[in-house]
Parts: sequence; C-alpha cells; structure tokens
Amino acid sequence: MHNDKPSRTAHKVALSIVTLGAKPGMDRILPAGIVQATEKLLVTSGAVGARGVRWSRFQRMVSVYEAFDWMLPGQFEAFAHRKAFCERQVRDGIGHGATQILVLGAGYDTMGWRLAPEFPGVNFFEIDHPATARLKAKGIDAMGQRDNLCLIAEDLGKRKLVDVLKSNESWDHSARTVIVAEGLVMYLPPEAVRDLFRQCAVVVGTGSQIAFTYIPTGADGRPDAGRWTGLMLWLQKFIGEPWIWSIRPEELDLFLEKSGWTNAPALAGMTVKHGVEFYAVAIKKNGYELTTGS
Ligand SMILES: C[S@@+](CC[C@H](N)C(=O)[O-])C[C@H]1O[C@@H](n2cnc3c(N)ncnc32)[C@H](O)[C@@H]1O
Repeated sequence: MHNDKPSRTAHKVALSIVTLGAKPGMDRILPAGIVQATEKLLVTSGAVGARGVRWSRFQRMVSVYEAFDWMLPGQFEAFAHRKAFCERQVRDGIGHGATQILVLGAGYDTMGWRLAPEFPGVNFFEIDHPATARLKAKGIDAMGQRDNLCLIAEDLGKRKLVDVLKSNESWDHSARTVIVAEGLVMYLPPEAVRDLFRQCAVVVGTGSQIAFTYIPTGADGRPDAGRWTGLMLWLQKFIGEPWIWSIRPEELDLFLEKSGWTNAPALAGMTVKHGVEFYAVAIKKNGYELTTGS
C-alpha cells in the first residue's frame, strides 16, 4: 500500500457504511450508532468533507453503490454484515470474560470509540498504518477521547506486532482478548499473514479469540472475486492496495493450527460468503507461547 497516503479502501468502507444507513432495512443489520459515529469521524478527521458525507447519505448514492455491485455481487451490503459480525464477536467475547480488544487495520472503524464507554473495564486498542491512523486520531480527539481506547500508528509490515505491543505499557499479554482483523489479511504478503497470526497468538492470554474476514482462493490460485476477478485484482493494484493473500476454506483449519489457533466455525455462526469474503473465528491454542517463539 502507499506509505504516505491514508488508505483508500478504509475510506471506501466508511463511506459505504454512511450510505448503507440510507438503505431501508439496513438498520436491522448495522450495529447501533455506527452510521452517526462514522459520519462524525469522517468529518472531524478531515478524511471527507461535510458535503461529501451529506451526499453519501442520499438515497441516490444507494443506487450508485448497488449499480457497482455488478462487479462484486452483494459487496455493498456485505460491509454491513461484516461490521455486524465483528461487533457480535467482540460483544460475545466480552460477555465471556474478555478484558482486552485489539482491532488490526482498524481504518475508520468506530467500534472501539462506541463500545469503550459501555465497557469501562475493557481496554480497546487499535493499530493502523500511520498515514490512516494519524488522520483518525485527529478525528477521535475532536469527537472526545476515551480513557480505555488506545490508537497505535504502526506499519505492521515494518514492525512486528509483538514489538509494537511490548512497548505499550497498557497492553496485558495474559488478558483474555478478542482480536479483530476485518478486511485486512488480503492486503498482506502470505508470509506476513502467517507471521501475524503467530504473533497474535503469543500476545494474548488463554481463551482469546481472533475474528477475521478473508477472500477465498479460486481454482486458478488467485483471490476469487467472482466473474470479474481479473478486473478487480487490477483495480485493487491500481489504487495501490492489491489483494495478495487468500486461502481455500478447506485449508483454513491447518493454516490456523500451524499458526497457534484452532478454527471455531461454530463461533463464527455463518458459513455463507458475503460479497467476496468469508468470516472466521479461531481460539488460541493452549500453551502456544510456551513452545513457539514469535
Ligand atoms: C480495507 S481497510 C479496512 C479498514 C477497517 N478494518 C474496516 O473494515 O472498516 C484495510 C485497512 O488495513 C490497513 N493496513 C493495511 N496494511 C497495513 C499494515 N501493513 N499495517 C497496518 N495497517 C495496515 C489500512 O491502512 C486500512 O485501514
């Protein structure tokens, strides 16, 4: 991805959330308060002007996004399902005793900011590439900081997660944690994805979970974006955020097993694909950190 420019895909996801707020029926899927918080964040961070946000709320923008769905059927609504999935995992995790939440590649996601006051005993952390994270931090400053929300600006391609968290004194390596990697792993090189999962397993306590979304690999070995895969892969490359990692769903168990996690499809609660992505949840393997280095 471009090192000095805020993420365009994070920008697109956030604007899609605003427009999904104008689509009838989406309020039953989108997490409560997400649309208003996203609108606010986009404006206060300067990522989008107030007029751009107003436009995104128009009914006709719903039609514009839906018109683009010819390329990736279902992708527009998929963002609502993705947000709902991640927030459900976090809420369930907290319900089962998690006291730490880590959102990787958080973009303009507002879950931490919205949930932090509701769960004062839980520490929320977010990491994103500096170009995006700094813009977001400006927005969060203006919206009102949360004592239990920590925004970290780091390029995970350059600095290891274990090192990033080691230098953060609020991070508790033994805490039961829910890690969220929403729309992230497709942008990382294969060796970096495996390494990231391994590192995730050594920075969290027993019973921790990781919830993530991924693009399946197609018969030709490329990320499968459906009929227009070639065009989509080219477009992603053109905007500087190529899709370079994918996995076949049947290979996920083994991949996770080797990376310190056990696949838990029952927790994910769904096996259908939304847009181009599948959703998955895995539980940290007991004792992983005792036998494996980072
Ligand atoms: C498609 S966006 C998703 C944003 C957010 N998770 C969401 O779904 O609303 C991908 C995010 O991953 C971040 N990202 C990509 N590569 C990264 C890296 N090497 N280090 C940190 N963040 C990265 C981008 O900056 C961007 O915010």
